[in-house]
Amino acid sequence: MSGPDFSKIPAVILAAGRGERMRSDFPKVAHEVLGVPLVRWVVRALQEAGFRRLLAVVGHGKEIVQKLLQGDCEFVDQGEPKGTGHAVLAVRPALGDYQGPLIVLNGDVPLVSPATLRALVVGLDKLSADAMVMTACVDPPTGYGRIVRNSQGRIERIVEEADAKMETMINEINGGAYGFRAPAIFEILSRVGPSAKGEYYLTDAVRLILEQGGRVEAARVSNPAEAWGVNARRDLVTVSNYLRWQLLEAHMRNGVTIVDPSSVYIEDGVSIGRDTIVYPYTVLQRGVTIGARCKVGPFARLRGNTTLADETEVGNFVEIKSSRLGRRSRAKHLTYLGDATLGEGVNIGAGTITANYDGHSKNPTMIEDEVQTGCHTVLIAPVRLGRGAKTGAGSVVLRGRDVPPGELVVGVPARAVRSKKAAKK
Ligand code: UD1
Ligand code: CA
Repeated sequence: MSGPDFSKIPAVILAAGRGERMRSDFPKVAHEVLGVPLVRWVVRALQEAGFRRLLAVVGHGKEIVQKLLQGDCEFVDQGEPKGTGHAVLAVRPALGDYQGPLIVLNGDVPLVSPATLRALVVGLDKLSADAMVMTACVDPPTGYGRIVRNSQGRIERIVEEADAKMETMINEINGGAYGFRAPAIFEILSRVGPSAKGEYYLTDAVRLILEQGGRVEAARVSNPAEAWGVNARRDLVTVSNYLRWQLLEAHMRNGVTIVDPSSVYIEDGVSIGRDTIVYPYTVLQRGVTIGARCKVGPFARLRGNTTLADETEVGNFVEIKSSRLGRRSRAKHLTYLGDATLGEGVNIGAGTITANYDGHSKNPTMIEDEVQTGCHTVLIAPVRLGRGAKTGAGSVVLRGRDVPPGELVVGVPARAVRSKKAAKK
């Protein structure tokens, strides 16, 4: 039997909240974990699960959130955010007369898995449920809505932390991901009244469904991390640390030696080849590609859009941005390379800097095969060093003063040594 066609099932992402507990001028869901905004982790999980019709509810900081989701989501403007129930109700017009399952997901639950998201849909039919709720046992459960079950073990209601009394003892929590049926859920939500704080809680819909004899079932995840919600800065760290180790372990499984994983920070979206060794205190940011048998670090920082070909070496206090290093090229000490393209077998001397920014724009530096730069060379871009060219220690190569292949230049500004001798004769 074939399962549901997830590509047709709407998935609603709640991303309109103020996120006050972050104490931030930016919307909460825009805060990054390993280089990726929270809400993008959620979108990724949905896409991996096969959902294609994503509706993001935006409100607070909507320009920023919309920019992050452009192309992947339709947008629904909640206006003033008045609670998660109010947010879901705002989606109704966008869905028109759609009848069928839909899922709803908080935008601050970055670790939810594609399998769980699918289970929220599948469970509706399989368990003849009117609502599915992702739950998890989290320790401590502080801050989450608690799942209250009756003596038969069935879900009875969800109690928000603010309203909880004895329920604070319960550690099964609402993970903020749900499966519902449309249009029933909208009818129910239109009957939800405001909480003491004046908010319309999505979790009250669960209570109303049960009150009218409906059925609410749990998609209970065994890995509590899936249900972690990010409300405050501290939660960002918890999620980051968890994911960071997952990624580090994945690199190690792929044959990368990470000498001291606890001091290495590797963002999402980094690829590293076999037998590469990453030394302590190295930062590898999103969009970095490293080949096989390379040595990186200690204390190296590779930024976006950087590629190291096989057998390259990047050492202490080297920062590289938007650059490519060819095979066997080396930059081992105290260097900045930005917008640079290096051929093969290049040796970048200690303290070499590409001055790629002239105050207006970023300019490229081309360094051909087998070039050697002396210590403390400054290369003012745009400039090209021809194959096998050399610079003396302390040289400053001016913009546009390309060094021909094989030539040695020295001094400030750098001049060809050969042509100087020739001038004397
Ligand atoms: C919510 C649940 C709680 C659950 C927890 C799981 C409610 C009432 N409570 O609490 O039971 O344990 O998530 O993480 O739903 N949002 C809007 N519009 C609004 C308000 C919020 O879009 O008007 C969005 C937020 O941007 C956020 C998500 O909804 O992405 C959840 O809101 P948040 O305030 O974080 O809810 P919690 O207090 O965590
Ligand atoms: Ca939350």
